[in-house]
Amino acid sequence: MNILVTGGAGFIGSHIVDAYLAEGHRVVVLDNLSTGKREQVHPDAVFYDRDLIDPAVEDIFKQEKFDAVNHHAAQISVTQSVADPAFDAEINILGSIKLLKLATSYRVRKFIFASTGGALYGKQNSYPADEEHPKHPMSPYGIAKLTVERYLDYFQDNYKLQSAVLRYSNVYGPRQDPHGEAGVVAIFCRQLLQDQPPVIFGDGEQTRDFVSVFDVVAANLKALVENFQGTYNVGTGEETSVNTVASFLIEASGKSLAPKNDPPRMGEQLRSCIDYGKFKRDHGWQPAQSLKQGLKDTFDFFANRHPMEANRE
Ligand SMILES: NC(=O)c1ccc[n+]([C@@H]2O[C@H](COP(=O)([O-])OP(=O)(O)OC[C@H]3O[C@@H](n4cnc5c(N)ncnc54)[C@H](O)[C@@H]3O)[C@@H](O)[C@H]2O)c1
Repeated sequence: MNILVTGGAGFIGSHIVDAYLAEGHRVVVLDNLSTGKREQVHPDAVFYDRDLIDPAVEDIFKQEKFDAVNHHAAQISVTQSVADPAFDAEINILGSIKLLKLATSYRVRKFIFASTGGALYGKQNSYPADEEHPKHPMSPYGIAKLTVERYLDYFQDNYKLQSAVLRYSNVYGPRQDPHGEAGVVAIFCRQLLQDQPPVIFGDGEQTRDFVSVFDVVAANLKALVENFQGTYNVGTGEETSVNTVASFLIEASGKSLAPKNDPPRMGEQLRSCIDYGKFKRDHGWQPAQSLKQGLKDTFDFFANRHPMEANRE
């Protein structure tokens, strides 16, 4: 297949590009390098340094004749979306609609969208939340993802575009960005590498559902299959506290540091966890990576990275 991966220079997108190329697909990356890194783009991928909302994106569609679009480019910071909701909407809503319109105009068959399970359901009524759980996004970022999901339904119903929505929980792993939804992992790694204690906001008993980027990649491989369409949670169904993440990473670092507690952050969601049962039933996807080992691999990735690169963040 000929596949466009937007955000393919970023954390999750770059791993997907690697996997698609390994499966023999032709991959084109569109990324404005706002948070992504050129060196993360696989050398066998065709790279366009372009903004999602640049009208010249149409030239790429005209020239490349894609079979599928995998849309990962986004303004990823929840905090930034609260500070500047209009900018968030411009990239995450308008940018996505423009891409959907181009996909239909140039007869793309499949559109895969990176949505969120962590920021969509809001304060949950039940744990873990399945796909039918009420949606109460608590940030413009979450509202934008929900809005784009609705547009995907519209384009699928009216233009026969096959859409796959993958709602990730908190994704961690090598190359991850400290500003993303599982940013705490990258932040703790950096603090430990600088011989500083991991700083926990509040008592550290707040929970998240941490899923490995390699399991997320496996979900994106499944989504490419002919006739795959629908909305699926991509998480582990397990709640892990920030205290547990800190203790696994301290162990991985081999350092004798104890976490430091700062005052809680206003409005922080206390628990989040999503159910992947539907994905398992329909397509046999389930998480395979152990959190402890995954966090160790992530710590090792940051530890082995060039110090100049680490300081850039
Ligand atoms: N990391 C998580 O835990 C998580 C959870 C749920 C959903 N997601 C979603 O997955 C996707 C990838 O997130 P990530 O964690 O890899 O973040 P990331 O910042 O590493 O990747 C986003 C990529 O998009 C690019 N980009 C941003 N704005 C752009 C624009 N206007 N035009 C072109 N390129 C642009 C960035 O340069 C970057 O390479 C995002 O859509 C994000 O909302 C991530």
